Amino acid sequence: MGLHLRDGALHVEGVALEDLATRFGTPTYVYSKAALEQAYGAFASAFSAAPGSLACYAVKANSTLAVLGVLARAGAGFDIVSGGELQRVLKAGGNPARVVFSGVSKSREDISAALDAGILCFNIESAAELERIAAIAASRAQVAPVSLRVNPDVDAMSHPYISTGLRENKFGVDMQTARALYQRAASLPSLRVCGIDCHIGSQITSLSPFVDALDRVLALVDALSAEGIVLEHIDVGGGLGVSYNGESPPSVQDYASAILAGVGARPLRILTEPGRAIVAAAGLLLTRVEYLKRNGERSFAIVDAGMNDLLRPALYGAWMGIEAVRPRAGTPQDWDIVGPVCESADFLGKQRALALEAGDLLAVRDAGAYAFSMSSNYNSRCRAAEVMVDGDTAFLVRERERFEDLVRGERLLPAGA
Ligand code: LLP
Repeated sequence: MGLHLRDGALHVEGVALEDLATRFGTPTYVYSKAALEQAYGAFASAFSAAPGSLACYAVKANSTLAVLGVLARAGAGFDIVSGGELQRVLKAGGNPARVVFSGVSKSREDISAALDAGILCFNIESAAELERIAAIAASRAQVAPVSLRVNPDVDAMSHPYISTGLRENKFGVDMQTARALYQRAASLPSLRVCGIDCHIGSQITSLSPFVDALDRVLALVDALSAEGIVLEHIDVGGGLGVSYNGESPPSVQDYASAILAGVGARPLRILTEPGRAIVAAAGLLLTRVEYLKRNGERSFAIVDAGMNDLLRPALYGAWMGIEAVRPRAGTPQDWDIVGPVCESADFLGKQRALALEAGDLLAVRDAGAYAFSMSSNYNSRCRAAEVMVDGDTAFLVRERERFEDLVRGERLLPAGA
């Protein structure tokens, strides 16, 4: 993310993290605009050999307006899972004709909003949802463009909480059911069958699950075509992993080559739904050490960011890189980097060799994806600020929350109740 040491301290592009901490306080998320643009550009151009291909950035990975705005200007499509995400995309200047709508439970209101906006496609996840979308479109005298999300029963070999392509998962419809549902969809005048979709999980670090899933989906595409249902696009989902701790995921080029080779000469537009691969490395979480403390054998660095700011370590046991913003010369020792929240799962990293003193700043790397977007107000903590760096300039793109934000919409019972 243009993260580098200059004069002994970490900078993002041309801006010192120490200056950002002074200006905006901590904890603060810091994003590099150049890194975002570079990652999206690399993804889009890796698929450029396929006419009409479109990378629909998975908004859930980081739904901050400024992030969406940078991607919208880069020509991105968007993968949304709620009406809220749709509104964010529209507010950020995203093109609704490049939006695909995923998720197992699209509400009536969200379906109507997506029809109003004129999205590219609904990724249908069940027979019941198909009927609901068809009925709503019919009642509005509209035709809804639809794909079916199929569940190819492939093991993504990722953490079980972020694997979605096995039959035991709630996502998509199995291959048998899909065939019947395509026939049903094709028979309904308020639906236009335009594609097929599949997403098998996240943080996938080898090509084989993608290739296996693609082969199974393409077998269905071919079978449907023989039955007279000819699809316009194939959406291969997201899931490409990044390197947090020495993992070696396929490069974007290798990933794209494998997909392009699989699709071959079929006249299908290729859609993708990358989230993490676009934003993870473009962001970091800047936090300050409040206290150092020892309990028995363990040494703890208590920082001002907690699991409410960055849930990945607590929820998945995820490893995130943590670096001192101004590395000290002293001998490193092993620290558990923990937050202020009252849970033992409230850690950002364990047994990290660092030379630390209270007051030091730390940078948690690769925190552009599934970090702020999964943050909460647990323990009545105000959510962090967000800053986007563009060259030598830093823009505050989200104010740090204040107490008034925490209690907005709350009411005490009236006196006497
Ligand atoms: N498309 C669909 C339908 C998805 O459900 C997801 C992610 C994506 C695309 C984007 O996947 P990506 O390219 O980012 O892997 N909170 C977890 C990750 C959850 C992913 C959920 N779905 C984490 O922090 O690791």
